[in-house]
Order: sequence, then structure tokens, then C-alpha cells
Amino acid sequence: MPDPFHTIIEPFRIKSVEPLRFTSREEREAALERAGYNLFALTADEVLIDLLTDSGTGAMSAEQWASIMRGDESYAGSASYERFSAVVHELTGLPHVIPVHQGRAAERILFAETVKAGDVIPNNTHFDTTRANIEHDEGVALDLPCSEASDTQAPAPFKGNMDIAKLETVLADNEGRVPMVFMTVTNNSIGGQPVSMANVRSVREVCDRHGTPLFLDAARFAENCWFVIEREEGYQDRTPTEVAQELFSYADGVTMSAKKDGLANIGGFLALRDDDLAARCRALLILTEGFPTYGGLAGRDLEAVAQGLREILQPDYLRYRVRTTAYLAERCWEAGVPTVRPPGGHAVYLDAGAMLPHIPRDQFPAQALAVELYRLGGVRGVEVGSVMFGDAAQHELVRLALPRRVYTQSHVDYVGEVVAAASKNREAIRGLRIVEEPLFLRHFTARFAPLL
Ligand code: F0G
Repeated sequence: MPDPFHTIIEPFRIKSVEPLRFTSREEREAALERAGYNLFALTADEVLIDLLTDSGTGAMSAEQWASIMRGDESYAGSASYERFSAVVHELTGLPHVIPVHQGRAAERILFAETVKAGDVIPNNTHFDTTRANIEHDEGVALDLPCSEASDTQAPAPFKGNMDIAKLETVLADNEGRVPMVFMTVTNNSIGGQPVSMANVRSVREVCDRHGTPLFLDAARFAENCWFVIEREEGYQDRTPTEVAQELFSYADGVTMSAKKDGLANIGGFLALRDDDLAARCRALLILTEGFPTYGGLAGRDLEAVAQGLREILQPDYLRYRVRTTAYLAERCWEAGVPTVRPPGGHAVYLDAGAMLPHIPRDQFPAQALAVELYRLGGVRGVEVGSVMFGDAAQHELVRLALPRRVYTQSHVDYVGEVVAAASKNREAIRGLRIVEEPLFLRHFTARFAPLL
């Protein structure tokens, strides 16, 4: 920001707008009843502020829209692929760049080619789709978060880190059965918490000692790099691009959902060092995603991602991004609502378990809070607790994920007000019971009924 002003403003102005639809409390009550108190079943126009996910929900820049007109839709050898792969190569240093339609497609192709039954894949914490794809190939998806991660209130700067001692043990105990180690940056499943460069270096050293490749799940790599600049000794004077290049220099491969830090509505890639693995992955890609120069995307999508990957590393953007999330967390704290601390990069996680101690876990306190935020103010977050994980849930959280470049400070202030209103009447919030649930991934489609 220009001296001497301190307000961190949105580093863009708005040239195209999308109207919001306001609903009455009665309309929201009716919508909740119809949706079986599952916010996934709401239609988007029933939601005022949609914080369900930061994935594919960002706003594209004028340059991205302009680049879309330059999209080359040639089936083979598209110029858009050349531009896309040049940007990914410059960033990651990896020679093989394989486009895919979104992050989980990269995971599916990679694991299909590398994971055998009984293989173990350690990660700081696997994202759901990463875990599911490994388990689909009968591998074991092992989470090795650092010890600070289990305490939602611990103020540690890099709670996304991996436990190095445990990694050492796992690799020693499973010689020949670990096709790769994964690191998720930032660590979404434990609150969007960053990983330090020192931790990545240590993981790399352990991998080198055991001859095991290291992969990054880079969905939110730029946010992670900004935390490194802000919090890690020795990085204050580096640019986000330099920090990102160092981060990727430790990796043998990268899976990327470009729907997050690619600033695009769709897209992703798999980037690899190993020639043979790349050839096998490309063969599989052709089977299900498309020819290797488009991988299930239109040429215009490749252009949007290439441009997005440049814009995401602008310091003014990242400063504003991380500050916005912290700002929302501060509004929640003012209202006496505990959140996972410190706030992560892409989302604020409300601690519904601590906020609603009168609702037992089997009555889903986080689902009850998510429903209440919608009922009061049309704000849609997502439950990350016993509905999503069943008995394995460690915490009862509501994630409020901020789409990139979409909402302004007044929208965030409004969300803060809605959270405060829910907090004021917290004793009146009641739990829910499940009346209908599918066999798998019940949080998407289960139906609930309110308890009296
Ligand atoms: N890895 C991480 C860390 C993610 O957060 C996601 C998606 C994926 C991989 C899969 O990517 O959706 O493009 O196939 N996370 C979204 C979310 C869905 O809401 O956190 P995808």
C-alpha cells in the first residue's frame, strides 16, 4: 500500500459485477426444510455469501479473460499448451507438464501408475480426494501431521508441517513399499496451515536417505509461500516467485488443482521429473482425459491457468489475501467465537465444538452452526466434523472458505456480523439428527431434521 496508509485494500477494481439475491428469513427457513438441512442441497441463488469452498469460485482478471480469446483449440500441439507448460516449467523446474481437468485427475493418474496394494503413502495430511484415490488403488494413505496441529489454539507459525521423526520411522519400517512421500501446501485438512521451507528441506533429506521421491500437492502453494515470507527467518526479502521456485526445487513431482492458486474456474496439472513415469501417465491421460496437449481442458482454460499462475504470485495480492482471512477471524474472535489459530490462508475454521458445548457430537454441533449461519444471514459454510468424518472426526469445525478476489471488505464485515448474531444466541441453537444417509461421503447428500 502507498505510504503512509495502512489499510490493506482489495488490490483490484471491479469492472464486471454479478448481482446478489437477497432472501427473507422465511424463504431461508423454507429452503432449509426442502434441503433437509444440508447446505449442499441449496441452490446457489438461495445463498447470499457463498463460503462453501475457495475451489473454482474465484474471479478472473481482465488479462485472464483476454487470454481466453487467444485460446488455441487445436487438438494436438496447441499454442496454448506451449504457453501453459512454459509457465509451469518456469515455476516448478519440472520437465514434464501434463494438463488435467482438475486436481483429483492428476491424483488418479499418478496413483494408478505408482501405487500397488499395501503400499504406504505418507503426507502431512491427505486431502479427501488424495486419500480416496490412494485407497481406490488399495494403498494406505498415512497422515503424519506435526504435534502442534492437534491443538486448534496453539499459536505455532507452521502447523501444516510434517512430523519428521515419524516419517523416518515409516520409511524405515516400510522399505520398498513407499512409492513416494507427499506434502500438501498449505495443509487444507488441518485448517489451511502452512508448511515451513525448513520442514520441506528436512522431508527431502529423509526421502533422499531412503531413495524415495517427494511430491507436492500444490493447490495453495502461493499462500504457503506468502506465509514463509512473513514468518520464516531468512525469507523476508525474497519474492513469492523465488520462494515458490525454491519450494518446487525440492519436489520430484507436483499435483495441482488450478481451481485454487491457479486462479481459474477449472484446470490442473501433474508435473514430473521422471521420464518413464511421465510416459506412462501420458498414456493413461489419453485414455480418460485427452491428448497430452490439452488433458481434458479447452485451450482457453490452459490460457486462464497460465495467466492465473503469474497473477497469484503478486505480493499485493497475497498480502491482501492472507490479511482478509485474518480479518474475518478477528471479527469472529471479537464476537467470542473461537477459530482454529492462527488463521489459515484460504479459510477461517469456526470451532463449533467449543462454541456449542451443549450440543453433543452425535447431534452434530458444526452442522447445527453451519445451518444457523445460513438461517440468520444467508451465509453458506461447510461442516468439517462428525458429519464429514464420522467417529474419526477430531474436531467439530465450520469452514468459511473465501473465494479469491470475489468478496469485498463489507461482505466480510457482514459475515462477521452474522457470526456474532449466532454467537449471541448460541444457547438457543439446537442439534440435528440424520434422517437419511448414503453409504459413502454422507456430508454431500445426507438429510437432517432439527432436534427440539
Ligand atoms: N488437494 C487439496 C489440498 C485440495 O484442497 C483439493 C480440493 C484437491 C487436492 C482436489 O482438487 O477439487 O481440483 O479435484 N479441495 C476443494 C476444497 C474441493 O473445497 O477444499 P480438485
